[in-house]
Amino acid sequence: MCGIVGFIGKKPAAPVLLDGLSKLEYRGYDSSGIAVYDGSTIQVKKAKGRLKVLSELTHDGATMPGTVGIGHTRWATHGEPSDVNAHPHYNKAGTIAVVHNGIIENYLKIKKRLQAKGYEFLSETDTEVVAHLLDYYYKGEPLEAISQVLYRLDGSYAFGILFADHPDKVYAVRKDSPLIAGIGRDGNLIASDVPAVLKYTRDIYFIGNGEIAELSLDAIAFYNTDGESIEKEAKHIDWDENAAEKGGYEHFMLKEMYEQPKTVRDTISPRLKDNDIVIEELGMTDEEIRAIDRIRVVACGSAYHVGVSAKYIFEGMARLPMEVDTASEFRYRNPILGEKELVIIISQSGETADSLAALREAKEHGNLTLGIVNVVGSSIAREADRVMYTWAGPEIAVATTKAYSAQLVAMYLLAIKFARVNGRLSDGQLKEYITDLKKLPEQIEMLLNNDERLQKFANRYVAAKDVFFIGRGIDYAISMEASLKLKEISYIHSDAYAAGELKHGTISLIEEGRLVGAILTQKDLYKKTMSNIVECSTRGAFILAVTNEENTEIEKIADYVIYIPQTNPYFTNSLAIIPMQLFAYYVAVGKGCDVDKPRNLAKSVTVE
Ligand code: G6P
Repeated sequence: MCGIVGFIGKKPAAPVLLDGLSKLEYRGYDSSGIAVYDGSTIQVKKAKGRLKVLSELTHDGATMPGTVGIGHTRWATHGEPSDVNAHPHYNKAGTIAVVHNGIIENYLKIKKRLQAKGYEFLSETDTEVVAHLLDYYYKGEPLEAISQVLYRLDGSYAFGILFADHPDKVYAVRKDSPLIAGIGRDGNLIASDVPAVLKYTRDIYFIGNGEIAELSLDAIAFYNTDGESIEKEAKHIDWDENAAEKGGYEHFMLKEMYEQPKTVRDTISPRLKDNDIVIEELGMTDEEIRAIDRIRVVACGSAYHVGVSAKYIFEGMARLPMEVDTASEFRYRNPILGEKELVIIISQSGETADSLAALREAKEHGNLTLGIVNVVGSSIAREADRVMYTWAGPEIAVATTKAYSAQLVAMYLLAIKFARVNGRLSDGQLKEYITDLKKLPEQIEMLLNNDERLQKFANRYVAAKDVFFIGRGIDYAISMEASLKLKEISYIHSDAYAAGELKHGTISLIEEGRLVGAILTQKDLYKKTMSNIVECSTRGAFILAVTNEENTEIEKIADYVIYIPQTNPYFTNSLAIIPMQLFAYYVAVGKGCDVDKPRNLAKSVTVE
């Protein structure tokens, strides 16, 4: 999705804007632009394509002098990717410039009204109406004009705004689209996401819905839409600057895969105390936990797959019924929620529009909500009744790996906690589970070290057209994530099937040489899935199997086998997914795909 950066300081703004935008590239974009006040007017430069084009156009910002500016990476929604549709947009006189994330739903109506008043439009975007609307209401008071405009907008937005006759200020405002303000040493900044400002500051304000931030050289003030001043506290973020750098790896995705042992350890260890699971953030007494009779997980993408895996664990281990919904379906379904149902929203960014809307829907029903979130202070983290953070640090690659792994173990911890409190786990079992949890980081590391072998194997599949992943139970959940990883970064069509469902249609697609990835980590389902593998291999499929160490006889049937080390059957997802991530990665690299920024995808999906 689009990215916003703004700067007001003592040094040239353009290089800071370009640098900040480069840290937001991972969000996905197809054009970019910056606006800088040069001492007398606002200069705007925009370009279709990669940020590199804009950097070349401005000689890395050198041709745009000035210390105040705003910048944007655009992911096209209204109007094709082009120079003219790129942001910033501005009024006719060029005295007001705007960058925008989100969608203005009533922009056509506003556009018509403005056209009737004589306003002319250059672009097809929804954003341009905001520049002209600001022009219409601007009588010398930026705060007043911004408030007037906000009253008239429907939809979601985050704006960065410059007024040429208030050149010592940058304005920022948002509704349902993320935006932060940071207090830097050499100036103050705004951005859609923390990595964009990490180089300059770690003291961050999370701008709330309807709050207007007014940045000057040495202060950041906040106002509501009535122009009243608001007190806000900055949060200190621990992420270090290098977390948003590749650190010698070829891609962020590879680096982040290699960070998984740490991520898993960091998420588990603060919650292990005296050989027990302690999740203080839950803020629930044992009695309150026992009162919960059903859990619902709502999420999108890989976070949804974590929910699918968790369903098997909660139902199997804690004997608690769990429903799992994709947020985009849940929010419009008029769902029926039980009174004692806990709603868990899983989200790396904490900003996914559908997940946020689902959270609000659940709250409206009066249900207790828990966010499993990676970004501290994000919208879901702020709005959920309780928050359990995953400690994955910033994740830059669009295709999630380390945040997914952290979410998985957060769900294991919760399941064990619920199982224990509900009397479903003996002391001995609890001890065993904790021992196995502690081993996971090391075991993940071991699997990562296998990457050369997988790279060779993956190279044989760069020309594949279709790949199928099959499994039963938790192995089906793993298949879903394995399939998503492959398709999103390599553009190879792939599908995940519950192995038992193959015979109901998909088997007709199995033919000579077709790659079938089979996951068999569940002892009680092993034989069943084996039969499905045989059905595929007798029809000529090439079988890639991921299974437990002891299942060596699988080599008689499977063509390529990856073994995962011994762990509790509920935790196998954390191990089996590692070779699948590596496989997807090396296929994509072999095909020459833009692994970190796959086409059409965005990291943080802040529009519906
Ligand atoms: C996008 C990302 C996925 C992610 C999903 C949910 O599709 O590409 O990697 O799983 O959004 O994002 P969230 O931030 O809510 O976990």
